Amino acid sequence: MNIAVIGAGYVGLVAASCLVNSGHQVTCVEIDEAKLRLLNQGTSTIEEKGIDQLLKQCLSSGRLSFVSALPKPLQVDIVMITVGTPSLPSGAADLSYIYNAAEQLRDAARHPSILVMKSTVPPGTGVKLVQRYFKNSPISYVANPEFLREGEAIEDWYHPSRIVIGAEDNKIGERIRQLYFDIDAPVIITDITSAETIKYAANAFLVTKISFINEIANLCEAADANIDDVARGVGLDPRIGPDFLRAGLGYGGSCFPKDARALDFSALNKGYDFRLLKATIEVNTKQRILAVHKLKQLLGGLAGKEIALLGLAFKPDTDDVREAPSLDIAYLLDEGGAKLRVYDPAAMENARPLLPPSIAFAPDIYSATAGANAVVLITEWREFIDADWQAIKKQMKEPYIIFDGRNALPQDKLIALGFKYMGVGRRLG
Ligand SMILES: NC(=O)c1ccc[n+]([C@@H]2O[C@H](COP(=O)([O-])OP(=O)(O)OC[C@H]3O[C@@H](n4cnc5c(N)ncnc54)[C@H](O)[C@@H]3O)[C@@H](O)[C@H]2O)c1
Repeated sequence: MNIAVIGAGYVGLVAASCLVNSGHQVTCVEIDEAKLRLLNQGTSTIEEKGIDQLLKQCLSSGRLSFVSALPKPLQVDIVMITVGTPSLPSGAADLSYIYNAAEQLRDAARHPSILVMKSTVPPGTGVKLVQRYFKNSPISYVANPEFLREGEAIEDWYHPSRIVIGAEDNKIGERIRQLYFDIDAPVIITDITSAETIKYAANAFLVTKISFINEIANLCEAADANIDDVARGVGLDPRIGPDFLRAGLGYGGSCFPKDARALDFSALNKGYDFRLLKATIEVNTKQRILAVHKLKQLLGGLAGKEIALLGLAFKPDTDDVREAPSLDIAYLLDEGGAKLRVYDPAAMENARPLLPPSIAFAPDIYSATAGANAVVLITEWREFIDADWQAIKKQMKEPYIIFDGRNALPQDKLIALGFKYMGVGRRLG
């Protein structure tokens, strides 16, 4: 098929490259000139397994091109919108990029084609867009939310847990099913608003699971129970499952926080107070603050204490720091008067402009931890778990605290090395 993709960000670049790899012809529109230049040179603008090679392959096939505006008149089978939907200060999804793309499409469309909405938009948005932009136009509308995870994006594109297609016309829905002819996954065809709701409900459920296990971890600390055993015992129930039951510092990233807020806002705007989701969001914020308080207590105050923060990215294997717990924790520790050194294998440059200038950036884990009174693990990068903790202990100062914010480090081994170990919902050691 002949496809246009609007927005060459995380989702757009992966979608465009994978669609070309599946034999389609793709024109990808990107308004950011710096990104456009890099992409035309064959340089990926995202940190993602396999994307560099795939992008080069696609460009040399001659079936992928990057342009700054939609060709006019537009003659394609499908137009995919993959622009961002960030948070407004109210928590609502900012749909201005969506409206902009829809306007461009309305102005360029002369021939029948299908608009496939991949961006995450609140329930009811698709129906409104059709009314506002495409009522008497050759464009048909399909909601087709994307579920890929950063760090596993290409793998997730080809092996999704499901493909959700929301269309008012079955024939149009079937056309989009054919677009994914080479992907073996259950396909759910529904109306537009239900498809939009599936995406938000899935993310709302996942963040609720994260906040739930964090609440249970806090309860474990109060009741002198061990969260590892509790989570294992709970997760073995097939009705619950073991995923997303690791207690820690809570969720961050480019999707979960903004989608949770947007659904909360959208529900309220429709007259429904989604109290469970509100509590989930509040627990997630509290978890970061609680971590700083616990550390302060253990250190007997923060002023003048040397603290190493390990990990800035919101999860391992990405350089993405959007809404990462590291940012709030670094800010609160700095404000409390601690001397901070931070290190992350990939996210230092993205984090630098977002952190106070008093924070030092270390070139590796060993420089970050040298002379520290406490080490805080924020992102569970493999290189932190596999680090030489004996060497780290030798160069630290009393009271040799390690705060394992992801319950990822070998607790018994660290205690045996002489660390004072604190996890989340684990017994102090
Ligand atoms: N990143 C993820 O892991 C992920 C996963 C699933 C769904 N989503 C959803 O997909 C959407 C896109 O997310 P993303 O992370 O790829 O965003 P992003 O910010 O990385 O990319 C969006 C891109 O669109 C470009 N853009 C904006 N308006 C444009 C226009 N009018 N014409 C051309 N280009 C334009 C921007 O310059 C940017 O490069 C969001 O709604 C997000 O919630 C993201």
